[in-house]
Amino acid sequence: MTFETRATRPIEGQKPGTSGLRKKTAVFSEPDYLENYVQAIFDVIEPAGKTYVLGGDGRFFNDKAIQTILRMGAANGVARMIVGREGILSTPAASHLIRMNETDGGLILSASHNPGGLEGDFGLKYNIANGGPAPEAITDAIHARTEVIGEYHIAKDTAPDLSTVGQYALGDMRIDIVDPVADYADLMETLIDFDAIRGLFSRGFTLRFDAMHAVTGPYATEILEKRLGARDGSVVNGLPSPDFGGGHPDPNPVWAKPLVDHLMSDDAPDFGAASDGDGDRNMILGRGIYVTPSDSLAVIAANAHLAPGYADGIKGIARSMPTSGAADRVAEALGIEAHQTPTGWKFFSTLLDAGRATICGEESAGTGSDHVREKDGLWAVLMWLNILAVRGQSVKDIMDEHWARYGRTYYSRHDYEEIDAEIANALIGDLKGKLATLPGHDANGLTVTEAEDFDYTDPVDGSTAKSQGVILHFEGGGRAVLRLSGTGTAGATIRLYLERHEDPSGDLVQDPQDALADVARAADAIADIRKRTGRDAPDVIT
Ligand code: G6P
Ligand code: ZN
Repeated sequence: MTFETRATRPIEGQKPGTSGLRKKTAVFSEPDYLENYVQAIFDVIEPAGKTYVLGGDGRFFNDKAIQTILRMGAANGVARMIVGREGILSTPAASHLIRMNETDGGLILSASHNPGGLEGDFGLKYNIANGGPAPEAITDAIHARTEVIGEYHIAKDTAPDLSTVGQYALGDMRIDIVDPVADYADLMETLIDFDAIRGLFSRGFTLRFDAMHAVTGPYATEILEKRLGARDGSVVNGLPSPDFGGGHPDPNPVWAKPLVDHLMSDDAPDFGAASDGDGDRNMILGRGIYVTPSDSLAVIAANAHLAPGYADGIKGIARSMPTSGAADRVAEALGIEAHQTPTGWKFFSTLLDAGRATICGEESAGTGSDHVREKDGLWAVLMWLNILAVRGQSVKDIMDEHWARYGRTYYSRHDYEEIDAEIANALIGDLKGKLATLPGHDANGLTVTEAEDFDYTDPVDGSTAKSQGVILHFEGGGRAVLRLSGTGTAGATIRLYLERHEDPSGDLVQDPQDALADVARAADAIADIRKRTGRDAPDVIT
């Protein structure tokens, strides 16, 4: 085996964001772009003699990138790589393999819910030994390394064909090609009551799972159709394609509209769900009803004890700050800790590791538990099926009962997309500048009771994250949150998150947009979003 050391030069902009480095595929596939970034990771993590998991969501360039990473791993002294067959692993499955094999970490290739293809996006992130995304100290060090990199190491030989499970070698590096689905599916069997769900399907329960031409197709087919007995064809768009069938694999009412329309139609199945490009996000629907991610988190937490993996109860619930407070009410009723973290799954890791949270969720369609250190789309779907099977009720009945007990937290997110970055930054900056003057202020008929810029101190390791979004509290319990998206690629996206809680005795059957209209008007009166952006209405409402 011969290795070569190639001279290179730093490439600007290799700065990981919320979830690793994400760039246009055309940029990622430029000469040395991937190589520089991978070598920067290796220079920081010192991989000699260590074991890593490697896989991605199968988008365009996945196969080539895997080959390069294997050749660079061998040249950098990696002892062993565990690779999903054909280079495929969903993000939660990769997290599980890292933990199950007690490896030193993993490299995950994905740009999550962003479109794929040469015109689309590509991404790479490094996860640490607990299975979760690397903390900022590591990603900052990787970025710093990309700025001074002068060479990288790569094997001259090509890596083995990845189409057959088995043990291979590249120089001294062992390569284990594993079935990407089996271990993950086995893990689900330990957490979820598969017998109960089989019973549900045998009684004629119907489901449609939209894999959106992305990585969860094979996982959903194996688990839902093969192991659980959902009727053939329950999984739609189940064949992964490198450009996700030309679509936008984000499971929300906008991008998964055909599924939502189907669930609202006369021939709707009992249950509908979807997942994203790399399998960590989810959307939950019942016949005639869409469950918001915030409500889904609350329902899963309230009913988690019905699943064998959580039969002893859960230790705590964590949600990101813009996620609604619905889950907090469940935590209160259960007498367990409720945590409010900044946006980004990585902030849950310390709480999960310390056993202070068992179930976590975000308004951005992520739900998960301490079984892995990533959010997990199929897990959320299986938790719902488990709950439906044991309770023997429809999604709508479960939501009605939940709201009748805990009250209903009306929730909606309004996105203003592709705003000029200067305008967006000035808007948020000005808002932050006047927070102290807001309490007592009348905003279009609603009085502000509190206004803060969210600062977080991690209760486990004491690390801090400052200025994570503006929270406005209004008289009557309404809340508006404003922050800029950290995942966009074009211009800035202003996110306005709205919520208002209605007690069990209140009106629980309003249209969420009506229920939140006064909070939306008040937030706009304070932040002046429409005037400053020149938009009459949000671009996307979820
Ligand atoms: C990614 C992260 C999530 C986070 C979301 C926020 O998907 O994995 O943990 O909630 O980004 O996106 P935003 O565009 O609002 O910054
Ligand atoms: Zn994702």
